[in-house]
Amino acid sequence: MSRWWQGAVGYEIYPRSFADSNDDGVGDLEGIRQRLPYLDWLGVDAVWIGPFYDSPGLDHGYDVADYRAVNPIHGDLVDFENLIADAHGRGIRVIVDIVPNHSSSQHFWFREAQQGRSNPYRDYYIWRDPAADGGPPNNWVSHFGGPAWTLDEASGQYWCHLFLPEQPDLNWANPAVLDEFDAILRFWCDRGVDGFRVDVAHALMKDPQLRDNPQQLPVADPTNPKEVFDSFEHLYDLDQDSTVEIFKRWNKVVAPYDAVLIGESHPRSIDRVARYVRDEALHTVFYLDPGRMGWAPGEILDKLEAVHRSTDKGISWIIDNHDESRSVTRFGGGEAGRRRSLAVMTFMMALGGFPFLWEGQELGLVDGLIADAHLEDPIATRNEHGIGRDRTRTVMPWDTSHANGFAPSAEPWLPAPPRHPEETVEVQRQDEESWLNRHRRLLAVRKAHPDLWSAPPEWLPSPAAAVRMLGRGSTLALTNLDAVAHRVELPAGSWHIFYQSGPAAATRPVTSPFEMEPETSYLLVTAI
Ligand code: NOJ
Repeated sequence: MSRWWQGAVGYEIYPRSFADSNDDGVGDLEGIRQRLPYLDWLGVDAVWIGPFYDSPGLDHGYDVADYRAVNPIHGDLVDFENLIADAHGRGIRVIVDIVPNHSSSQHFWFREAQQGRSNPYRDYYIWRDPAADGGPPNNWVSHFGGPAWTLDEASGQYWCHLFLPEQPDLNWANPAVLDEFDAILRFWCDRGVDGFRVDVAHALMKDPQLRDNPQQLPVADPTNPKEVFDSFEHLYDLDQDSTVEIFKRWNKVVAPYDAVLIGESHPRSIDRVARYVRDEALHTVFYLDPGRMGWAPGEILDKLEAVHRSTDKGISWIIDNHDESRSVTRFGGGEAGRRRSLAVMTFMMALGGFPFLWEGQELGLVDGLIADAHLEDPIATRNEHGIGRDRTRTVMPWDTSHANGFAPSAEPWLPAPPRHPEETVEVQRQDEESWLNRHRRLLAVRKAHPDLWSAPPEWLPSPAAAVRMLGRGSTLALTNLDAVAHRVELPAGSWHIFYQSGPAAATRPVTSPFEMEPETSYLLVTAI
């Protein structure tokens, strides 16, 4: 059966940073609605809007206090309905975040659960008695620093939280939690949403015995939460086989609405990625590694190929999102970083699945500069050596007016970083060879050549580690991420380039052997 997301390209929006319509310094749903003409012009098929639900905002919306209410700083349900109506009017689908691993500690369920062991909501969360020495029940650690357990003085038990203490983990072994989320999914589907991006999809179920995770690496800097987290093999807190059962159930809940389920998944190994999309569970999952890596071309391509071979179902390919340094910065910064970022994204467009751009990626943005005093992310503010995520989340540079057009006159919640006029949407739209227009053309050619994402894939022999050739029906995707040119033998037939990630994007016939320029990707079609 063909589904609407096959062949689609998505665009991630961080509601706080995209556009502020009411001039309070925080982005809102109405601001997104007003910018829909831009997204339509760019050619995206769907937007994924980060959490805009009622929330104390300690993790900027990933701490949900009411899964059915809009946070007043982002608008209200009427704004949401207007946004959906306008997006659908333009043929743009709307995907919203769902945050099922944890709620906010301000959620009614948790406030009730804290009333005591006999409260009917107690079992909505994960509670355990202290270890024999009075400390946490096991050695699990939080992604955001410190133990994954906090003591509730009143009851003498610890609650589990893989993120902030104010983000208590829900107990997915409790059937009542399953019922609650079925109803929440239906609530948003009934309001017209076209899908859900499932936050930390791999984390929902925990080992029933709560066993200790093995420590696999020594820790040099215990004040760096990422280093501490990565020092453990996450055998018991993440990626449990039983988690997939939850998504099989969700798959049935959303089926009548033709809504897509996209998991944010970070399984323990590449060969576990496919588990989430098999057997009618999630429809696609984000594969996050390329969105975290520095410029390691051979390794990036090895991973892409391995994941692609591990599942013929969809992966949502990304090199950027709201949690990591921007690809242009990670890949070397400046023009080199931009060239590399577009080269990888171009090749990803031939991998199938449901690729996503992150707001500002299409402009070739580098990370925004934010002074330490203005950092907001708890990873940075609650740890001595935590590397926060604010620099990727700075406001979208629309034009050269106040705060780069994000807000009419208010100071943005994160100060607008210095941006050159050439980094703004307004200036790049005028220039046919801007990064923005190159991304726009990439989206257009993907639509024009459906073989690129739908024909059976065939990985062809490659002359170097940082080079790949992927045949798909009448099309061929070539990437050379190496710092030097490489010659490749093209399969028999006559070939035309219809897109190239570097300059001089003109369509042209090519012959074999074909010399690929450094750090450039090409999309070819057999001449008819
Ligand atoms: C993953 C989200 O992408 C991130 O922004 C958030 O902090 C954590 N999940 C916790 O919800």
